[in-house]
Amino acid sequence: MGEWYDNAIVYQVYPKSFKDSNGDGIGDLAGITEKLDYFTPLGVNTLWLNPIFKSPQVDNGYDVSDFYGIDPQLGTMHDFDTLVSEAHARGLRIVLDMVLNHTSDQHPWFQQALQGPQNPYYDYYIWANGHAGQRPNNWGSFFGGSVWTQHPQVKDRYYFHLFERRMPDLNWRNPLVRGEMIKVANFWADRGIDGLRLDAFIHLAKADLHQNYPTTGAGPVVAEGMFANLPAVQSYLAEFVAGIKADHPDLFILGEAASATVNLAADYTRPHADMADAVISFRYFPTEPHAARTAVPQNYQPQRLDWLGFKQVMTDWQQTLLAPRRLTLYWGNHDMARVATRVGSRRYPQRSAKSLATLMYLQRGIPVLYYGDELGLSNGTLASLAAFGDPTVTAFANAARAAGWSPERILENVNATHKLTARAPLPWSDGVGHGFSTVAPWLAVTQEGTPVADQMADADSVWHHYQALFQLKQQPLFTTGAWQLQDWAPWLYAYTRTTEHEQALILVNISDRKQTLTLPAAWQHPAASKLPVGSVARHTDSVTLGPWSSVVYMKKETTN
Ligand code: GLC
Ligand code: CA
Repeated sequence: MGEWYDNAIVYQVYPKSFKDSNGDGIGDLAGITEKLDYFTPLGVNTLWLNPIFKSPQVDNGYDVSDFYGIDPQLGTMHDFDTLVSEAHARGLRIVLDMVLNHTSDQHPWFQQALQGPQNPYYDYYIWANGHAGQRPNNWGSFFGGSVWTQHPQVKDRYYFHLFERRMPDLNWRNPLVRGEMIKVANFWADRGIDGLRLDAFIHLAKADLHQNYPTTGAGPVVAEGMFANLPAVQSYLAEFVAGIKADHPDLFILGEAASATVNLAADYTRPHADMADAVISFRYFPTEPHAARTAVPQNYQPQRLDWLGFKQVMTDWQQTLLAPRRLTLYWGNHDMARVATRVGSRRYPQRSAKSLATLMYLQRGIPVLYYGDELGLSNGTLASLAAFGDPTVTAFANAARAAGWSPERILENVNATHKLTARAPLPWSDGVGHGFSTVAPWLAVTQEGTPVADQMADADSVWHHYQALFQLKQQPLFTTGAWQLQDWAPWLYAYTRTTEHEQALILVNISDRKQTLTLPAAWQHPAASKLPVGSVARHTDSVTLGPWSSVVYMKKETTN
């Protein structure tokens, strides 16, 4: 044990939306370098950058056309080297987003592959014959429609794409592909980066392509059982990671394992297996079963966090991924609506932003904070459905319209749930361009919220709460201490952290109402209380917590 990332506090930078340095409305690498002094005072020591490689930007950089080049919108290789060395000079680590599952259709490999089966690059991708004018199977893409598309240049064959049709999947059965990806990773590791976030790695293996997935519908069906978490993923991952760690043993491998259950996460983070050092699963956030409104798809209707389910999930993950396995702690990322919108309280936005942070990040695990959450930002708004440029939004809107929804209601629902409205430029200051850019930003999102400068000047801000929280998080009690949920009331999220000599009790009122908790005898005389949020009133044997209020009690001797 004892890797640097055991104490990592990761901040996810969405490069296009962080800071524009050259006035073209797009955030860039030089912008990040300019703002490097922002992180240490906040308590962050690691930056994860969403993809920065050369890309036609069909999927904001996840469609890579050159794994060895920086996208010109974001800067140059020189800007990159400067960013890394300036970051290191400040003790900050850099984690890059590595896209393994697919490339852009503009990537030279795919352009070569289009020459047909005789071309050596043809087998870098996944192809199949149709049947009687039909697609090879009924599997559906995450981005809507089928996973299969035909290219006019290649007769009778379809290529496979789990995501957008301009993002063909790589064929990981091909050892040449596996070798190429190791080469790419080592190239960046040699350039000094400290870690890799492995994009969508759970999809590297696919089942036999010549089978349909059972469904009642006629259209394509997202068939996770055919292309998520198949056993071969683990051998591909192990080979890939071994190929990097041989020369770069300290590189932090953070896997994106969207649909991984806790047991799969345990597999992927098996100690000494050269797989992931930690994974991010989207299964942390079960939602309350929705009243059956089947006419309108649920994907763009806000769903409330199911708190009981969440307590169970956290317990499962905390108790299963015991040390030396690691887990990640996060509330959001670029693929989901912001936590303030999804989980926070409308009546108590400030308090709930702070209390949710305390709740999550003092647990056992590596915090991964989505940029802007330290300001308590909520989802921004786009002015029209067309601005989303997303066929799944169109499908939702059509169904909602047919069910009699007003245009305003449809737009409001999409704004509150879409990933794009969670990717707004970071507001640095008041005034024109919000200190992000001097011109209109690349994404026309209207973002509410108090900018960085104002929050840094206000000791009571969400920003300052994060600062105090991350300071506390660095204590061994909160990195290595045992975790146990104390499920004393439905309105309460409470847990203890325990080491041999110390114990902390974290209490969070997750309701919009004032609540009183009778404290167990062991907690009636804590040595200290930290991070108070909202109103916390102590009585002899109880504590009254105002709506969305929270507190951390600490004591020296340990009781169980
Ligand atoms: C991951 C990314 C997502 C991207 C997809 C395809 O899920 O987080 O943003 O669209 O992979 O690369
Ligand atoms: Ca720029």
